[in-house]
Parts: sequence; C-alpha cells; structure tokens
Amino acid sequence: MTPFQTLRGIDILVTGHTGFTGTWACHLLHMIGARVHGFSLPPPTSPAMFDLTQAQETLQSHTIGDITDPDALQACFRRSRPRLVLHLAAQPLVLQSYRDPVGTFLTNTQGTLNVLEAARLTPEVQGVVCITTDKVYANGGERRPFIETDPLGGKDPYSASKAAAEMAIASFREVLTAQGRNMPIEVARGGNIIGGGDWAEDRIIPDLARAISSGSPLTVRNMDAVRPWQHVLALLHGYLILLDRIARGESQKGEAWNFGPADQTPISVGQLLEILMSQWTSVPLQVQHVQIQLQREEKYLLINSEKARTILSWQPFWFNVRATLETANCYKTSNTDKSELLFLTQRQIQYYFKL
Ligand SMILES: NC(=O)c1ccc[n+]([C@@H]2O[C@H](COP(=O)([O-])OP(=O)(O)OC[C@H]3O[C@@H](n4cnc5c(N)ncnc54)[C@H](O)[C@@H]3O)[C@@H](O)[C@H]2O)c1
Repeated sequence: MTPFQTLRGIDILVTGHTGFTGTWACHLLHMIGARVHGFSLPPPTSPAMFDLTQAQETLQSHTIGDITDPDALQACFRRSRPRLVLHLAAQPLVLQSYRDPVGTFLTNTQGTLNVLEAARLTPEVQGVVCITTDKVYANGGERRPFIETDPLGGKDPYSASKAAAEMAIASFREVLTAQGRNMPIEVARGGNIIGGGDWAEDRIIPDLARAISSGSPLTVRNMDAVRPWQHVLALLHGYLILLDRIARGESQKGEAWNFGPADQTPISVGQLLEILMSQWTSVPLQVQHVQIQLQREEKYLLINSEKARTILSWQPFWFNVRATLETANCYKTSNTDKSELLFLTQRQIQYYFKL
C-alpha cells in the first residue's frame, strides 16, 4: 500500500519549493498523490535541482514570490487554497547570515510570521509544518545531544533568526487558541542535510562536487566539526509524518520535534569527506583546512530524536555510509548526465518509501 494515503489528493503548499529540500519535497509529494503548490523566490543556485529535474511539472501551481511580501503570499493562499502548508523557504546559510543579518532575520523570522498569518486567513488551512533547524538551541559547547525542551538561542544570525521564528511560532499558537482557530503549527528541527542536487555555497558536499568537477582545491572550514548528518529523504519522511498527523486531526496546537541521525557514532566533517571521496573519485584532491571560522560555528552539535522515534515512530533508514553513498551517486550522475538526475531522484524516493 502506498504510504501517506491521507495526503493523496490534498492541496499542499510548499514554500521554498525551488530549493534543494523543496525540490525533493515536490517530487515526493507528487509521487504519493498530493496536489502540490509552490511559493518561492527563483532557484537559489545554478545549476539547480528544481530545473534539472523539471520539478515544475509536479506542481498544480508555481508562484515566484517573496515571503517578506505579505500581500503576495496572501494572494497565493487565496488562489491555491491549501489544506496543509510545508514551510521551507529561508535564508539557510550561516556564512551568508553574517554578510546579511538583517535580510536573514527578515526572511527567516518575519517571513515565517507572514506565512502563518496567510495560513490563518485561509479557512481551508488545517495546519502548518515549519522547518527550523538543530541550530536553534542555546549552544554553550555542551557535548550532549539537545532535547526539545532545551532553551533556544543561537549566536550567529542564521541560528538566532530561526530561534526567533520559533518564539514567534509559539506565540502565534496562543493567538490561534485565543481566536478559537484550530490550526496546529508543528516545528521540525533537523540536522545537516545531505543528498543529491544541493549546489548551495559554503556547504561541504556541494563544495566537494565543485572541487571534483573543476579540479580545484577543496576548502574546509572545520574538519573536526561534528554534525547530525541526515539524508534529505529521512528528514522529508519526518515532515510527511507531521503533515499526515495534522491531516488526520491528531495534532493539538503543534510542538517541536527533533529529527536527527540514528544513535550511532556521530561523524565529523573530516570523516564524512573520507567516506564520500572513497566512493566518489579516485583522483586525489587537494584539501585546504581553514580554521578561521571556528568561532563563528559551533564545533559540536547533536540532537536527541527520541521523541520523534517513540511518538511518531519515525526512524531514518539510511545512515552515514548509505546516505553518503546515495548522495555521491546523485552527484556523479549529475556531473556526467544531468538528465539522469530526475530518474535517480525518483528511484531513490521509490526505494526509500517502498512506493
Ligand atoms: N540544508 C540543510 O542542511 C538544512 C539543515 C537544517 C535546516 N534546514 C532548513 O531547511 C529549509 C530548506 O533548506 P534548503 O537547504 O533546501 O535551502 P535552499 O537554499 O536550497 O532553499 C531555500 C528556498 O527558499 C527560497 N527562499 C529564500 N528566501 C526566500 C524569500 N524571501 N521568499 C520566498 N522564498 C525564499 C529559495 O528560493 C529556495 O527555494 C530551510 O528552512 C533551512 O533553514 C536546512
């Protein structure tokens, strides 16, 4: 039986649908039979998975717009009348947030409020799933995985803007309750996402892909940094469970959920690179280690996902090695034959979800 039957035929609006995760979301939701609508700025990279995999063809409607513009958002909600919203649109890069802190807060914090307000004003909307990040926690360098009730914080503007979005979401839930509007807002806090089709700046795997295809040295910021690496399909699985829960009427007001890797030895950037390079290329690659950014990014960051595992029965199926293998496959394919990326994307989705 196809999983997520409740989402079949349902109108779902995805913000940030032209991005890396958004494009995977469009294909996945389309493949399980949802009616997908998108609202986003144009694809943030070139090349872009959205274009290479012709993701526009999965959509009922495709709106190019800015979430900092409430009128454009509300017009899109009026046209598409979604029952569910998956809010992914964001400025998601830590280094970019240092270059443009105000723009990052506008998009990530004010933009999230604009999405919630447009949803509130649309009677058909049954609930929203907002994607923040594992970086929302106040990280004092504790070497323990964070749980959902830990205090929020975030030193860099990206993390702080997402933590601020969570504060806004929490108070918006109170507004909805006071108004008698039943519209749960679930929040997913995920770790560093890997998977084919990401060409963002300043991310380790896209940087590696560029270094391999150009033959130039790879610059690595923090070789020792430990992150909860996750395959994009593992996270999307979590997001779908939350959408499904809302569609079934099982969500109350909504709450936060950590989605991190299975409990096994966390791996560092250096270890991730080792696994990736052994599967990807036989050509030796020059690696330049730049320690200078260390104070800007936390060295150790892990989250505890026990709550999602026990209450949502969520579990990631592809772990470190398998997740990197599938990711390397996508990049190798798209380096040689970009048209194959759509085929591989659909095949990975079918395989992961046993469609
Ligand atoms: N990639 C990761 O490792 C990671 C980890 C944790 C959380 N996240 C979160 O997941 C979500 C998706 O991340 P991604 O890696 O796919 O990012 P991405 O940069 O690939 O995609 C972001 C999308 O948002 C859109 N966007 C940006 N600003 C916008 C605006 N003002 N109005 C409308 N659309 C706008 C872009 O056009 C794009 O479609 C983000 O909320 C991000 O913070 C990502």
